[in-house]
Amino acid sequence: MSQPPQPQPATNPARMEKIVSLCKRRGFIFQSSEIYGGLNGCWDYGPLGVELKRNLKDYWWRVMVRERDDIVGMDGSILMNRAVWKASGHEETFTDPMVDCRNCKARLRADQLPQKDGVPYCSTCGSRDLTDARAFNLMFLTYVGATQDESSKTYLRPETAQAIFVQFKNVLEVSRKKLPFGIAQIGKAFRNEINPRNFTFRSREFEQMELEYFCAPAQGRQLLDYWLHERLRFYQDIGIPRESLHVHEIPADERAFYSQGTYDIEFEFPFGIQELEGVAYRTDYDLTQHINASGKPLDYFDEETKQRFVPHVVEPSAGVDRTALALICSAYDEETVTDEKGKSETRIVLKFHPRIAPIKAGIFPLLKNNGQLVAKAREITALLRPHMMTFYDEGGAIGRRYRRQDEIGTPFGITVDFETLGEKGDTLKDTVTLRHRDTMRQERIPIKDLLALLLPQVT
Ligand code: GAP
Repeated sequence: MSQPPQPQPATNPARMEKIVSLCKRRGFIFQSSEIYGGLNGCWDYGPLGVELKRNLKDYWWRVMVRERDDIVGMDGSILMNRAVWKASGHEETFTDPMVDCRNCKARLRADQLPQKDGVPYCSTCGSRDLTDARAFNLMFLTYVGATQDESSKTYLRPETAQAIFVQFKNVLEVSRKKLPFGIAQIGKAFRNEINPRNFTFRSREFEQMELEYFCAPAQGRQLLDYWLHERLRFYQDIGIPRESLHVHEIPADERAFYSQGTYDIEFEFPFGIQELEGVAYRTDYDLTQHINASGKPLDYFDEETKQRFVPHVVEPSAGVDRTALALICSAYDEETVTDEKGKSETRIVLKFHPRIAPIKAGIFPLLKNNGQLVAKAREITALLRPHMMTFYDEGGAIGRRYRRQDEIGTPFGITVDFETLGEKGDTLKDTVTLRHRDTMRQERIPIKDLLALLLPQVT
């Protein structure tokens, strides 16, 4: 299943710079608290970014929860009893190795230092004068209530998974499911990363989409491979080609001691091949830890075999922000196009899968000062709007309006012109030009057929 080590494709910082600049210019992603100089590792999603993320999360929820009989959802709190983080092992071991540069005082991840002739050096100033590595806990400490002492300490959750484990029994009882069954959750997670980097890739605040899939011990290995395949299919169904995905099987000596198998699904970002999602067979580790620490039974009684046991779990855990970034990187394209006057220009286009694209259709009256064209275009907007995100635009030459939508990945352009109004006879009356983003092909479609044509493509 895992691929032999591949030669790393060359990184492309220039491409990444263009993507970051497009994200800001067109309102996908802004620096958090920008007017105050930002906050390292934190990002705000603008009008297009929030649509992109919402489409991604909605599609994940649809295929992982709504379209399956064996998975239910939940939404746990971000703050939990500190006992959860003691039992899960996070308080003790959720650490990264950190070094300080004695020269420039930078704090750096010891396992990510650049090296020259086998000697690590500071990625900020180049000095080799570094301290020994020490463990730095990534959880954000906070206090609950008005008193700030040992008894009120807890942490912002560094993963959504633990809420699922500690609610396993409640959810099992209310949903009346039998093993194998899963609990899915999407939500924020927080890690005080030593070196946030690569735009949103490694952030301090981010979102996860996690499934804990509970099963009998004998099913674990097989389900690990099943979930790997399901998840690979998911990425292709949102438009990330299989060729840009890599599967890295973590060797036994690098896995967590309780794991009986872990795959990383990786993507070829312009800054290198990096993890999008982990699919891990975590055995009965988490439930057992919580049984031991809480004293509460979190086991399962199998009616058929009359056996009682602690379920094993397979966990596909994906990052929303990383996947959104992969979608943007994968979709970004530059083409040279020549207009009818023979003038060449660069067309920037985000080739998003229509189901992921923030805006599904741009709607354009040919002229903004013609009341009839405008009224018809508004009518089409009202027709499509309850079903998909549309954008009405009457400003500038029609070619410019198409380009603006290409740059943000809108798959369809709908233009209302004089033919729509019936000026060239009844055959074309109440038809529009439908323009396809990737091919720039244009066709004539009756307004009454638009919804039925577009809806299956964008959902
Ligand atoms: N419950 C298992 C777990 O949290 P993980 O590999 O630490 O596993 C799962 O995280 C996913 O969460 C990662 O594959 C990644 O997509 C996302 N993720 C983790 N840390 C992140 C960070 N600092 N910034 C953005 N996404 C992150």
